Amino acid sequence: MSKSYKLAVIAGDGIGPEVVTQGLRVLDKVGSKYETSFVKQEFELGAAYWHKTGEVLPDETLAKLKTFDAILLGAVGDPSVPSGVLERGLLLKIRFAFEHFVNLRPAKLFPGVNSPLSTKQPIDFVVVREGTEGPYVGAGGFLSKETPAEVAIEESINTRRGAERVIRYAFNLASTRTDKKLTLVHKNNVLVHAGNLWFRTFTEVAKEFPNVKTEYLHVDAAAMFFVTNPEKFDVVVTDNLFGDILTDIAAAICGGIGLAASGNINPTGEFPSMFEPVHGSAPDIAGKNLADPTATILSIAMLFRHLGNNEAATEIENAVAKDLIARGDNKRSTNEVGDAILALL
Ligand code: IPM
Ligand code: MN
Repeated sequence: MSKSYKLAVIAGDGIGPEVVTQGLRVLDKVGSKYETSFVKQEFELGAAYWHKTGEVLPDETLAKLKTFDAILLGAVGDPSVPSGVLERGLLLKIRFAFEHFVNLRPAKLFPGVNSPLSTKQPIDFVVVREGTEGPYVGAGGFLSKETPAEVAIEESINTRRGAERVIRYAFNLASTRTDKKLTLVHKNNVLVHAGNLWFRTFTEVAKEFPNVKTEYLHVDAAAMFFVTNPEKFDVVVTDNLFGDILTDIAAAICGGIGLAASGNINPTGEFPSMFEPVHGSAPDIAGKNLADPTATILSIAMLFRHLGNNEAATEIENAVAKDLIARGDNKRSTNEVGDAILALL
């Protein structure tokens, strides 16, 4: 039976448009093999739109985005825009408004890819980063701004509901995997309020999943073990900021940010989920056909899996895996990587 989905495309800034173009070629090719079509609409958002209109993401646009089945995002951020304007006003606004409480970030070292680690053990784990709370909410403010007595407060907001829903998602995910192991990462020896809430919630939800092995690590130790013993991880659940930092380490040990995919997921289906490469807009190489579109292509695989088409997702991942072996250390252009992966589908 053929299927049709509405896909919103936000190519965004820097290398975003280039990697998205390659991602969409893969989406269409694999879609057609599985009788799945995508009705796409591009949204002109990002630095250029802000310069032109003074707005980042108008409420009407957000309302429009809600009517889509999913969103593909390239990258946001540009040196011509003050830091935080696009990050908070566009990316985080969508994550919060659409309750993307799961920020899913696989860490897999594909055969043939060079890791900076000397380990020969397979690396294959998933970080479930909380996406709507923690220090990301923007709660806080200044007192006596720009005086010698200036105070800046940045509050971390943690709710029982917020911790519980992401922790339960992570347990469910761990229970479907071979190793069935879930690691909670926090800093409950110092952050005794938030850490305590997370730990208690984790311990309680664990009772529903007797088949899942559990472990707790402080974030500093987890950062170290990502580098020294990455093979020991299966599924990791953690708060928004710890997850942000840890997933850059995870990307680095798996061959770099050019390969790291992610999904901002609303598991309830109430709002569209959004898929994006972990990397940023890389303005220094933008428009030069140099960016690696692999992370975006792997994010397309996550999109198919989210839509329930595991076969299509696996086919894309297998094509990427073959290409990663074939490419070796050859430097290839954005288009060339896209062509090579397309030819393997
Ligand atoms: C990421 C990015 C974002 C984040 C920034 C751009 C707001 O670093 O997706 O990891 O911190 O979540
Ligand atoms: Mn990040």
